[in-house]
Order: sequence, then C-alpha cells, then structure tokens
Amino acid sequence: MQRCIRAAILHFPDSCRSALEADWEYLPDGLLWIVDGRIKQLGTAEALLQELPQNTELEHYPDHILIPGLIDMHVHYPQLEMIAAYGTQLLEWLNRYTFPVEQKYADKEYASRQAGAFLDQLLAQGTTTALVFATSAVNSVDAFFEQAHQRNLRMLSGKVLMDRHAPESLCDTPERGYDESAELIERWRGVGRLDYAVTPRFAPTSSDAQLSAVGQLLVDYPDTYLHTHLAENVDECAWVSELYPESRSYLDAYKQAGLVTDRAVFAHGIHLDAEDHKSMAEAGSIVCHCPSSNLFLGSGLFSINGALSAGVQVGVGTDIGGGTNLSLLSTLGDAYKVQQMAGEGLTPQQALYLATLGAARALQLDAQIGNFEVGKEADCVLLAPDRIPQLKLRLEHPIEIDELIFALMILGDERAVRQTWVMGEPALAPE
Ligand code: GUN
Ligand code: ZN
Repeated sequence: MQRCIRAAILHFPDSCRSALEADWEYLPDGLLWIVDGRIKQLGTAEALLQELPQNTELEHYPDHILIPGLIDMHVHYPQLEMIAAYGTQLLEWLNRYTFPVEQKYADKEYASRQAGAFLDQLLAQGTTTALVFATSAVNSVDAFFEQAHQRNLRMLSGKVLMDRHAPESLCDTPERGYDESAELIERWRGVGRLDYAVTPRFAPTSSDAQLSAVGQLLVDYPDTYLHTHLAENVDECAWVSELYPESRSYLDAYKQAGLVTDRAVFAHGIHLDAEDHKSMAEAGSIVCHCPSSNLFLGSGLFSINGALSAGVQVGVGTDIGGGTNLSLLSTLGDAYKVQQMAGEGLTPQQALYLATLGAARALQLDAQIGNFEVGKEADCVLLAPDRIPQLKLRLEHPIEIDELIFALMILGDERAVRQTWVMGEPALAPE
C-alpha cells in the first residue's frame, strides 16, 4: 500500500534540538511518500516526482499544509460529556461534576460508546496520539484500548487509582489498585500501538500505601508510564501539605514513592519551586501544560520558559473536561495567551514543536512518531487554512508560514483539519 501526498509540508526534523531552539523544516511544495504505513521519503515535489514509480497516484492539495499528527499529552476521555461545567475551581468541580460522571464508566457498553466517540473527535481535530485518563473502572480501560486498537491508533492510557476522598464506588484499595493495574498491563501493554500508563489520580485521592503500590508497579513493569496531576490549584496544594506532612513539597510526596522518573508525566505543575524543577530535571520527568483548563478552572499561569529553562521537559494537553476545547491548535493559542500574561512569549515554532516532536521525545516515542523522518509511522494531518472564514480574508495577501501557523493557533480549530491519516490510512470521510 502506498500513498503520495503533495502539499506544503512542515515538521521538525530529528536535527531540531529542543523547544527553546525549535527550528522547523518547511517545504512550500513538498511531497510525502508513504509505503505500508511508514514514511518512505520526504522531499520537494520537484525532486521526488522524478523518483516515484511511473504509475504512482498523487494526492495533490494546493494551499494546504501537511503536519505530523498532533500529540495531546493530558486528556480525560470520560470527561468529554461534561465540558463547560459552570462556576467552580478544581476541588469542588471534581466533587460536583466529575466524580458523578465517572461512575457511569463501570458499564462497559457505555464506556465503549463514549471512547469511540472521543477517539473520532480526536481524529477530527488532527490528534493522533494522546495520553488519556480513563476512570478507576477496569471496564473503562478495556473499552478505551479496544476502541483505540480498532482504529490502529498510538494511544496511552491506564486505570485511575484512588483509595480515598472520592465516592466509594470509584475507590479501590492499594492491593486492588495494584492487581487491576497489573492485569491491564499484562493484557494491553504493547498490543498494536498501545502503551500503558499507571495512573494515580493525584496525591489527595491516594493514601501513602497506594502511592507506594504505584511505585512498585513502576518497578515491576518498567516499560509503563506514570501519569498523574501535580500542583494545579492553590487549595489542592495546601491540602496535600496537610495530607503528606513529611513531604517537602507536593512533588516530594510522589518522589518519596518512586514516581518521579523519566517516564512520568505530571499534568499542570503550576505551583512548583526551584527544588521541584531541579528534581524533575534530574529525573527527566515531564510537565504537561494545560492552558485552557488552567484558565477555565482559574488554576493559575504556568510558565513554559520557567520549566524549560530549568531543564524540565514540557508537553501540552487539552485536559478535557477541565479544558474546554479538544483542539490542540486552539490549545496552543491558549498557551500563547497564558505566556503573554506571564510576560513571556511563545513562538509558533515552539508551540508546534511542543505538540509534535517535543511530545514524542518527552514520551520516548520519537523513534515512531513526531515528524516525517524516513521509517516513522505515517500519522499526519492536512490543514486547510482557508476553511477558517477570518483567515480566508487574510489569505488574500501574501503570508509567511510562521504567521500562518500562528493565525491557525489563534483562530483555528477542527474546521481547519481537512484530513487525518493514521499509518497512512485516511481517518476522516473523504470529500
Ligand atoms: N486533579 C485530579 N483530578 C483531576 C481532573 O479530573 N481534572 C483536573 N483538571 N485536575 C484533576
Ligand atoms: Zn486532568
């Protein structure tokens, strides 16, 4: 099976060093040649057209931009149905809106339907990989992985562990949390394009004993990830210091249990100090910035530069349903606005890097995804800027690629996504 896509092509090659020095490769008239779901070659149309076998069919999209599939580093699939819940900050929001909804996901059929709808919406947004919270129900994870596997998607997820401060029907115990996670890891790890993330919700809903059990899971299954929340909200941080009086900081409660590793993704991480940054940088841990959620829940202003310049890896997540938009384009626009409030900047290059190669590197998946280097899996997205009415006017005049990507971050969303390919196969209905 082969496919040749001709369009403007934009990606960060392996030679790009970091988010702070993000330097993309732009081919205004490029060609991506895909064979058996992997990148066979990338080049200018002028050069590559000579090399293609004679009868190769070409899909030509003038005025479109082809980018690698976007990577959402923190999102809750069961919360898609409760986006835009009014009027609270984190802790009340969890009790009033989130926990009641998550109880429905013990029902396998319900969870499967929601997971399928969630994944289809992700693909419509151009997101091809995500690190996803399920709920504490084993069924919610089986449902998600089954749906992701059916779509041949590279997805990461895991069962939520929580043994306190939540409704009883959502709680497990340290032993049950361990056993159910281990069973799911054995069942799903490495199946197709799936990976497992051990997922304690956050320190307030896990006892000391449960965090230790999570640490044990990471030792027993070293190829899994750790996915949790950290220092999102001021009241939450105060609560953690009461619950973990022995810990120097919120991060330290995780560190003492062995959770701060180079495969650990901590969502939010707004309220951290220099010592926390140092620990995370030394361990190679990742902090996931979730700007739309931080604005919606009034959590605070994260500094991307602060984390990056301390040597901490950074990703970007939509954090649905604390976040209000499943589009990573729009989430990058929110990230820009948050950095403006923090008196810093975020260039379109840096932003797109964080949602593509940067995320792939942080997740240690850059041998598979994140750019268009030869041999990588061909997950890609075709952007049609003229589908955004406000942008259409702008396009009547010449526009540089960085201005165009920036305008797509600020004005764009799923309307700008014309097609998403998963390992070279179209995921959206062709037009
Ligand atoms: N902290 C603990 N659980 C959650 C959640 O579901 N969403 C967000 N944004 N923060 C959390
Ligand atoms: Zn979250």
